[in-house]
Amino acid sequence: MELIENLKTALQRMESEGDAALAMAEAGTQTFLDQLKQHTIQYPEPVFAVLRRLKPVLFIKNTAIVTRFEDVQEVLSRDDVFAVTYSEKMEVVTGGNDFFLGMQNSPDYERDTAHMRTVMRREDVAGQIVPFVAKTAEEVIQASGGRLDVARQLGKIVPAKWVAAYFGCPPPSNEELAQWSSAIFRYLFTDLTNDPAVGAAARDAAAKARAWLDQTIALRKANPDDDDVLGRCLRLQSAGVPGMDDLAIRNNLIGLLTGAIPTTAKCCTQALDELLKRPAELAQAQAAARAGDDRLFARYVFEALRFNPNNPGLFRVAAEDHTIAKGSLHATAIPKGALVLAATQSAMFDERIVDSPNDFRVDRPDYIYMHWGYGLHTCFGQYVNQVQIPGILKPLLKRQGLRRAAGLAGQLMYDGPFPSNLGVEFEA
Ligand code: HEM
Repeated sequence: MELIENLKTALQRMESEGDAALAMAEAGTQTFLDQLKQHTIQYPEPVFAVLRRLKPVLFIKNTAIVTRFEDVQEVLSRDDVFAVTYSEKMEVVTGGNDFFLGMQNSPDYERDTAHMRTVMRREDVAGQIVPFVAKTAEEVIQASGGRLDVARQLGKIVPAKWVAAYFGCPPPSNEELAQWSSAIFRYLFTDLTNDPAVGAAARDAAAKARAWLDQTIALRKANPDDDDVLGRCLRLQSAGVPGMDDLAIRNNLIGLLTGAIPTTAKCCTQALDELLKRPAELAQAQAAARAGDDRLFARYVFEALRFNPNNPGLFRVAAEDHTIAKGSLHATAIPKGALVLAATQSAMFDERIVDSPNDFRVDRPDYIYMHWGYGLHTCFGQYVNQVQIPGILKPLLKRQGLRRAAGLAGQLMYDGPFPSNLGVEFEA
């Protein structure tokens, strides 16, 4: 927080004190960037607020921080200019080819996303996923006896069980699957300094996940009739569809499950923490849950998540020289090769587009939320997330007497980028 305050002060002085303040801002900003890369700053919005006003596209040491709503969408929608950064690491994870998250818009990208949309269908969301999540979350909450840790015992376990059932890939244990996907996710998305320990943990997890999926695919071939994601992949394979050999199926599955588990756990935990900070809104969300008003309940959850979203932004690399916000007073030239942070969290607080952004409101238009990114690489699981995250929290919020556990047990804590603790109690 001290860092944020220093940067904020420096940026505020930029207007009045010229170069000296700019130098201070640059120093503070570089440190801020380093820290941001480590994801140690959990609440960067105060800095973003200053940047949006004084320096909406801050370019420093070959890195740009883009903070206004339209500019963030400009970066994420120009996927030909601002390329995704994941492919090298994705190939380490798959042990071979890229997965579509790491690909530029290309024939392979279109083929793989089309295949995965064929096997993970939109109608499954209401038909299969909603009832599965409701039943599984209720079982976990009931078995807890009135006290559970949302980060470890609920948020991770429900999506792990969902992956096993819906994808048709039962893991050795839910905990192991959640651990593999967290280690891989951390390496792909948050390890911008290439920490050797993070890389080693991800390589180990990826090797285990690949072996497990190889075995799962081989076993399933003996019994290919189940109508789940893997069964549907194998039917495409039997029909001779290109890009659906065993290895391609494994790559797609490993990519999907990496995206699915740690993110869901993190969003459930952080959204609940924000609601617990706001007793009035918590009570209204609980009333919506008890009344079975799922649409309204989901609004409470995703508005809460806006105050502490899954990630502050998304990184891209400029594939060519480009001027962001061309024609505006804050137009900024970005050279080829620069790293660009499209700060989606900041965009969701941009007062020029978002009414009273610091207020908790459930009447906001859907387009101001960028929890799932924007443009070509918008989250593949977005329609699942829209029901899974509220679906996991709903049975908990229906409970009477929901409150934080006493002391540290009831506080949100982190292990690296992931919540590791948020204990709650309720009437069993
Ligand atoms: C709370 C849950 C989730 C959050 C917050 C989340 C967030 C995101 C974000 C922000 C992106 C964009 C990355 C970028 O543009 O650089 C993304 C992409 C992606 N997500 Fe999610 N995700 C979640 C759950 C899921 C689930 C459940 C799945 C799969 C079942 C999934 C699979 C993917 C895939 C495959 C992509 C890449 C899409 C593409 O390249 O076209 N995610 N996710």
